[in-house]
Order: sequence, then C-alpha cells, then structure tokens
Amino acid sequence: MTSEAMQTPPRHSRVGLWFGLGAVALCIATVGFIAANRPAEQSLAAVENQKQVDLGQLVYQRNCMACHGVKLKGKPNWEVENAKQAGIPLSADGTTWHLSDQRLFDAIATGTRVKGGKSERIHDTAFGDAQGGKLSDQEIWALIAYFKTTWTARQFESQKETSLRERPVGSTAPGSK
Ligand code: HEC
Repeated sequence: MTSEAMQTPPRHSRVGLWFGLGAVALCIATVGFIAANRPAEQSLAAVENQKQVDLGQLVYQRNCMACHGVKLKGKPNWEVENAKQAGIPLSADGTTWHLSDQRLFDAIATGTRVKGGKSERIHDTAFGDAQGGKLSDQEIWALIAYFKTTWTARQFESQKETSLRERPVGSTAPGSK
C-alpha cells in the first residue's frame, strides 16, 4: 500500500503538468490570434467587409457619382477641365489614397481636406450628419471601404501605412501632418 501510494503522486502531477502546458499553449495561441487580427480590426473602413462595401457603393451612387463619375473614375474629361468643376477620380487614377482613413473621413464629413498640413475646401456640402449633412458616420466609413476596392495593392498598402502612422488621429503625434 505504501509503495503504491508512493507511485501515484508522480502520475497525478504528470497529468497536471500536461494540463498546465496545454493552458499555457492556449494562452499563447489566443494572444497571437488577437495580435494578428488587430490591424484589420482597427480600420473602420474594411475592404474585406462586403456588406460595408455594398453600402458604400449605394451611398456613392446616390450622393457622389454625379461629380466623381461611374465607379469613382471621375468625370470623363476631369483632366482637361478645371478640377474645381469636374469631379476628380477617387479611384486608382486619382491621389485619394494619399489620405489616411481619418483624413478622408474628415474631408467627406466637413468638406475640408487637410493635406500636407494645408486645409482646403473641396465641397460646398458638409456630408457628415454631425455637420448638418445627411450621411451617418457608418455611411462615410462605408464610402471609404468602397474607395479601397478600386485602389491597386500598392496604393492600398501605402494608404494603410499612412493610416496607422497618423493614429491617434488629430493628435500632434509625429507624422500626423
Ligand atoms: C458637386 C460635385 C461633387 C459632389 C456631389 C461630390 N464631390 Fe467630392 N469633390 C468634388 C471636386 C470638384 C473635388 C476636387 C476638389 C479639389 O481638389 O480642389 C472633390 C474632392 C473630393 C475628395 C478629395 C479627393 C482627393 O483625392 O483629395 C473626396 C475624398 C471626395 N471629393 C469625396 C466625395 C464623396 C464621398 C462624395 C459623396 C458623398 C462627393 N465627394 C461628392 C466634387 C464633388
């Protein structure tokens, strides 16, 4: 009896050890999973979210297409006309991807674009409902998600970096201009 009792504890503690290791592995996997998925979650305009993109396309067609053209390509003669009258493209043909997510949001919501530290009025209309316009935050983020579907992979990656670099938005963090 005594010799059996002496053999049991090691077996118990081995089971405990495997449980412990299992728990640690699960923790590492969970933390890794969260870390790996964080950057995607951080963008409020997610190109991989088809529902959001669809909403963006609808909002675009109703409010923006008359000036910015079919599929964001700009008015046919935007290059020759004065850009103030002809809507410029927001697609890969334009330079909209130079603006971070938040700068794009603000430009659409307020009608003022901040680029290279310079403020410029782009629209007479402030589309954001917080500015008295008709679009909700959700609709504006959806528009930006829709823009992203037209950019090249390089433009997309570059814009993503700009957005990450400029966070927290509106702060005086280095690189926010
Ligand atoms: C009445 C015509 C008109 C309408 C409607 C319009 N825009 Fe524009 N938008 C312009 C013009 C013109 C410019 C270029 C201004 C400039 O560069 O000086 C512009 C600029 C922009 C820019 C800046 C692009 C860049 O590359 O810097 C964004 C973003 C934009 N518009 C988004 C929108 C969205 C989203 C809508 C719909 C909710 C919309 N616009 C509706 C005429 C319009």
